[in-house]
Amino acid sequence: MSPTSRETVQVYPDADALTLAAALDFVLLAQAAVAERGVFTVALSGGSTPKRLFTMLADEAHGALAAPWEHIHCFFGDERHVGPEHADSNFRMANEALLSRIAIPAENIHRIRAENPDAAQAAAQYETELRAFFEPRGLVRDGFPRFDLILLGMGPDGHTASLFPGSTALEEKQRWVVSTWVEKFKTDRITLTYPAINHAARISLFVAGADKAAMIHEVLVEYKDTPRYPVQFVQPVDGEKLWLLDTAARG
Ligand code: 6PG
Repeated sequence: MSPTSRETVQVYPDADALTLAAALDFVLLAQAAVAERGVFTVALSGGSTPKRLFTMLADEAHGALAAPWEHIHCFFGDERHVGPEHADSNFRMANEALLSRIAIPAENIHRIRAENPDAAQAAAQYETELRAFFEPRGLVRDGFPRFDLILLGMGPDGHTASLFPGSTALEEKQRWVVSTWVEKFKTDRITLTYPAINHAARISLFVAGADKAAMIHEVLVEYKDTPRYPVQFVQPVDGEKLWLLDTAARG
């Protein structure tokens, strides 16, 4: 972690408390960014904990946790190699839980066109779309997008976004988005790369449930200073890495 970055761990009693904390944090970050420069950029994630957050944000869209959706641009950190109607689609999950339930302009939703049979082409198209958004607005640092917030989960194998152990995507230093073969699932995925993730102002990692406790121990305790799992190379260049855990995951 660079000297201008920090890593924080917050532990909540259960997934509901974690979700509430995440929702509050999302809304406050969005309000501050919109007040400062009129726009808030967030990369959404697949996974079960983000889904709970999306549902809460939609339920609260007219309540105390109302976010300034007309000024929020939603991107995706990764996508499965399927169309937007597919049960495995991260877009479909986010759309059903949140995006279709709030007053957000269609042009503020930037999904990965993973219905493209060529995953590498889908990745390149998404990078083009990201560049067209971030570059003219000056929302870049060292040639990479400066997301206000990137939401991530962590798999029991230590993967995050679609950065899986042993995959070539882990080595990417130039591109913002790549396709990557995931041997475990015998499929391609499309994912933001480390440099694209690590230039964000805030990276929030949601991890809940006892099945994550062993990996959390390895990542935050045992191999803290000798990183070996993909999630450990999420290291903001000039930003904050915030872990939101429940006690079951904390072990
Ligand atoms: C995906 C996610 C992936 C996910 C983790 C954790 O597309 O599957 O981006 O990285 O966040 O696998 O998922 P859970 O929160 O469901 O355990």
